[in-house]
Amino acid sequence: MKVQIEDKEFSCFLEYEQIKKRTRLLGIQLNVDYEKRVPVFIGVLNGSFLFMADLMKEVHIPAEISFIKVSSYHGQDTTSGTVKSVIGLDIDLKGRDVVIVEDIVDTGITLSYLVDVLKEKEAASIAICTLLLKPQSLQRELEEIAYVGFEIPNEFVVGYGLDYKGLGRNLRDIYRFVSAPSET
Ligand code: XMP
Ligand code: MG
Repeated sequence: MKVQIEDKEFSCFLEYEQIKKRTRLLGIQLNVDYEKRVPVFIGVLNGSFLFMADLMKEVHIPAEISFIKVSSYHGQDTTSGTVKSVIGLDIDLKGRDVVIVEDIVDTGITLSYLVDVLKEKEAASIAICTLLLKPQSLQRELEEIAYVGFEIPNEFVVGYGLDYKGLGRNLRDIYRFVSAPSET
């Protein structure tokens, strides 16, 4: 199936059923790894909102859930390369086991900044759980990436929380950029 968002055409890449299946497995892994701890899951808005919701339904251990917003990306199809700020980090993370929940790790610039900020807060441990990872695009070493839903090629994707020019976050499946539609 194809969708058009603004000037671009996207074709289906990952169906929601596949995402759900993979998310269930990530949940099982988290339940085992954090069994004796009470982790804080921190979703990075806006992109992670759907993944976070589905993932948390698979986590059955006591856990805290929170969200932050990082401003770095301006709704276009390229990252700006700079991270401006972290908004809403309102819990005391000292001594806590933190799991950052992300929609996608592309260059890794956003997350490496975020990890540095969380380290300053003296978290006991920091792990990253990302639905998508573009290994060919990574520019930062991120040893904290412990949970990955899918490794994907270096292509722009949209849907299931991910946007193009602010649109498409509500799509149930994930789509990848095909081409600009023809003029005719
Ligand atoms: P990096 O890892 O490059 O990624 O700092 C920062 C943020 O960029 C967004 N991003 C995307 N958003 N489709 C999107 O809709 C993509 O293919 C894509 N690649 C990166 C995303 O918000 C990520 O957190
Ligand atoms: Mg994001």
